[in-house]
Order: sequence, then C-alpha cells, then structure tokens
Amino acid sequence: MRKFKSYFLLLFEGLKTFSKASRWGTFVLVILVPIEALVPTGIIFSIQKVTTELAKGSVFSMSWGIFWAVLLLISNIIPPATTAISGYLTDVLIANINQKLIDKASEIKSLEVFENDEFYNDVETVRSELSWRPVNLIVFTLSNVRYIISLLSLLVLLFNYTWWLPLAIVIVLVPQSLIHYRIQQEAFETLVTRRPEARKMNYLLEIALNRDYAKESRLFNVFDFLKKRYWKLFYTVHKEENRIRMRQFGIALIFIIISSLVSMFAFIYLVFQVRSGKLSLGIVVGFASSLVAAISASNGLVEESDLLYDTLMWLEKYLKLMRKSFTESGYKSITEINQISLDNVSFAYPKENQKVLKSISLGIKKGEKIAIVGQNGSGKSTLLKLLADLFTPTSGQILINNEDLREIKHEDYWAKISPVFQDFSRFKFSVGDSISFEEKTGVDEALQFSGLPDLNSELQLGKEFGGTDLSGGQWQKLAIARAFYKNNVELYLFDEANSALDVHSEKQLYQKLMELSAGATVIWITHRMTSVKLSDKVIYLDKGKVLGFDSHENLLKNENYASLYREQFE
Ligand SMILES: Nc1ncnc2c1ncn2[C@@H]1O[C@H](COP(=O)(O)OP(=O)(O)OP(=O)(O)O)[C@@H](O)[C@H]1O
Ligand SMILES: [Mg+2]
Repeated sequence: MRKFKSYFLLLFEGLKTFSKASRWGTFVLVILVPIEALVPTGIIFSIQKVTTELAKGSVFSMSWGIFWAVLLLISNIIPPATTAISGYLTDVLIANINQKLIDKASEIKSLEVFENDEFYNDVETVRSELSWRPVNLIVFTLSNVRYIISLLSLLVLLFNYTWWLPLAIVIVLVPQSLIHYRIQQEAFETLVTRRPEARKMNYLLEIALNRDYAKESRLFNVFDFLKKRYWKLFYTVHKEENRIRMRQFGIALIFIIISSLVSMFAFIYLVFQVRSGKLSLGIVVGFASSLVAAISASNGLVEESDLLYDTLMWLEKYLKLMRKSFTESGYKSITEINQISLDNVSFAYPKENQKVLKSISLGIKKGEKIAIVGQNGSGKSTLLKLLADLFTPTSGQILINNEDLREIKHEDYWAKISPVFQDFSRFKFSVGDSISFEEKTGVDEALQFSGLPDLNSELQLGKEFGGTDLSGGQWQKLAIARAFYKNNVELYLFDEANSALDVHSEKQLYQKLMELSAGATVIWITHRMTSVKLSDKVIYLDKGKVLGFDSHENLLKNENYASLYREQFE
C-alpha cells in the first residue's frame, strides 16, 4: 500500500513537472479525455432507450436517435484531436527536458562523474526514452482516467440488471492488475540492467555509421566483427526479455479466459431471467453491449495502468538524475592566481587502484614558464587536469595563493585559466563560434595569433552539418585560437599543443604564447625538447614521480633527463 502511495506521489510530481511545458496542451487533453470516456456509455444508453421504445411499440421519439448520432460524431472527432495535441506536447516536452539536461550537465564540475559507467547508464536510461516517456505519462494518466470513468459508468449501468456481475468484474480486475504490475516491474528492471549491453550495441552501430570510424573500419574490415558482436549481445539481452513477454502473454490469457467465463455466466443468467419473464427482451441488447464494453474497459484499464506503471518507473530514474546534486563547488572567491603549490599530491583515477601521480610537491610562482616532460603514460596530462581543477587529488593538496583549490569556486578559477588539452574538442560550429561561442569581436585576431589568418570565421565546420573539415594541424590551431581568445587569463595550460604543428608553426606558437602571456603563468607539456629552453623550470616526470624540478640547464646534469633531451637530436 505504501508503495502505491509513493507511486501516486511520483505520478503527481511528474504531472506537475511535465504539464508546465505546455499548460494549454495539457488543459485541452484534460477536458477531452473525460468526454471521450463517457461517450461509449452514452451510446449504449441511447441505443437501449431506442430499442426499449421500439420493443414497447410506443411512439418513437427522434431525440434519442439524434443524441446517439451526436455522441458518435464526438467519439470519432476526439481521437485525432488528442493525437494532434499529444504530438505537440511531445515536442515541447522533449525541448524542455533537453534544456534541463544541459543545465544539469553544466552543474557537473568534477570530471570524476564521467569516469563512472553508472552515470552513463542513468543518462542513457533517461535519454533513450525521452522522446516518448514524458508525454506518455500525461497520455497514459488520462487514458487511465478515461477507462476508470468508462468502467464505473458501465458498472453502474450493469448494476441495474444484476448486482453480482459488476462485483465479479472488479474482483477479477484487482489481481489481474497486480500481477501485471509485478511483471512490468521485472521487465523494466531487466531493461535497465541490460542497459550496458544496449549501449555496447549502439556503439557498434556508431562505428558502422560514423565518419570518425569510416577509414579504419574499412581498411581493417571490421564489419563482420561488428555483426557478430551485435548478434551475440542481442541474444544475451533478448533471452530474458522474451521470457518475460511469454509470461505476460500467459497471464493475460488466463485472465481473458476468466473474464470470458464471467461474461458467459452473466449472459446465461440473463437469458434465464428473460425466459422467466423477470426482465424484458428489450433489455438484452443494452445488457449485452454494456457487458462487452465493461469487460473491454476493464482489460483496457489493466493494460493502460500497466503502461503507466512502467512510465512511472522511468520517471523515478529521471527525477533521481535531476535531483542528483553535482554542485560541490568551493565557496572562496579569487581574483588572481599568484602562487601555485602542490603539497604531497597523489592521484588515482576513480575506480582504479594504481596511482598515476605519486607524492608530488612543488611550487610555481606567478608568471613562471614551466615545461613538463616525461615518457608516455608518465602522468603529465593527469597533472594538468588536476591543475585545471577537473579532478581533485586523492591525497595531498593543491594550493592556489595558499588556499586549498577544493575550497575555491570553480567558476572563479576557471575564468582565470585557459587550456589546450591533448584531446581537445572539435566543436562543429562556425569557426568563429567554436572560438568565441557567439561573441563576435576579436575572433580574427585570435585566428591570426594561432597561425590561421586565412580561415574565414563564418566558415561552418563539420561535414554532418553541411560544413567543411580541417587538417589535423589546423584543428589544433583552432583549439589554440580558442585558448588565446579568452580574456583575463592568468594561467595557460597547454598539453602537447604543438604535436600536430609543423616546425615553423611550432616556433610561432611559442613566440606568440610568450608574447601574449607576458605576466601570466604558463605550463606546457611537450615531447619536443626544443621548447624546454624557453622555460624557467622543467618538471621531469617519470611513472608519476617528479624526478626533477629545475631549470633545463641544471637538469641536464641528471643523466636520464640528459639522455631524453639528447635522443631527440641524434
Ligand atoms: N581516465 C583515465 N582513467 C584511468 N586511467 C587513466 C585515465 N587517463 C589516463 N590514465 C592512466 O594514467 C596514466 C597517465 O596518463 P597520462 O595521460 O597522464 O599520461 P601522459 O604522461 O600524458 O602520457 P602521453 O605522453 O602519452 O600523453 C596512464 O598509465 C594511463 O593509463
Ligand atoms: Mg598526455
């Protein structure tokens, strides 16, 4: 019972949330549905009136006939009208919820959330069914109301003939619904637990259809592999679902037989009543049609309430995601970044045992130019992501102006730093928008600065949007332009921003970087050792440990560093 109450509260909350998307759409539906519900009973009632009058041989009055015709018209008009309004509501709801998802995503400050597959499952459950679930909540609720009104009015009509028949219908209805809900819950849970497999299946399709995979998937002929993998996943997912479907069908069959038996007995009973003269022949038509309508309304109610229950389970997941608080931002404001200190910082990625940064302690003064070098996998990018406040240290602290970075407001800190990540994003807007996100001024200057003077800022990017594509190095320069474009930056973080650049462009990049960042702190990661000469100090990382933090000249005394440096020029 408590569970039912909680589902009612959930339904109420869902309706309240979703009806906000379009008040008038919801309003019109709310008006139409009860009318639709009462129409069948009205039709049967008017037929019964007409037949009774005919049977009695009394004077036939047209009014019931007209009433019948009007009801018939209404019953035909309402379904297409509700379909049109539901369609409209669907569109508005999707837009509203998508906007809420964008808002929710913006609340996520720590990238740790994205390292967790449960998050993807939750998001996927909500997103994959977004196009139909919210509107279904409204539509199913209303159709349940419709069925309840229909059924009640028909039961009242039947009650006039015999008291036990309505009671029998209700007695069958209750267990039938409860059993259905249970199975529906099982089905939903199966669907949710199968979500990782479903995501893998979607991924296989993405490989087949997405441009990013088009080259390798052809030259390595991955398509047979994709198909085989797809079917394998399909069978694991669908075995369980089929089992549930069969059970659903079996149970439905049992209850159909039971309700048919009830109707049959009722009908025989009625025939005997008429025979013994207790009821008139004219009533038979009304009774039989009420009975058929009542049974079909009760089956309809079971089915629709079942679907509503299923929708409520989705709603529960949706509201859970929406209520989840990601805003664990610090509270201290900062206006500048002076001193950066790492105090015994260690870090392991979420759900990983291995520490990728180990007891790092060092200090960086305002305006210093710092290069980070080390072999692949030594933790350079990770260190940069920690400095960008996208992850927090597993132990130890990062201090900005002697304040723990955890306590500083993300927005304040992020406003002061500008990054080029190793795996920078390729935004597919116009060139200008992907640099400035709609602010127009200064884009051309940034393009000039990053070595793309000929690129038109109006140029649309992304073939999938009818735009163009850039070369690898040009994309990287665009990411650099984005970083240069940002104002009031006090800390630049460049992760191998030179990796795709030609020698000339690379030289220009560092020259411009030094020019632009005169008073700002710059930390850059590089495998090309020529640029380390521009730095005040070099962080030499190896397997997560700092093996050296000193000027390039001093570090050359370190045998390993020296050989790392020299190897490039041999
Ligand atoms: N998101 C992640 N989750 C788990 N482990 C990760 C993740 N990203 C990186 N790692 C691991 O952390 C270690 C350090 O990675 P990192 O990207 O910091 O190396 P790097 O020094 O930047 O290497 P490269 O020169 O190849 O860019 C690697 O062993 C890598 O496997
Ligand atoms: Mg890296």
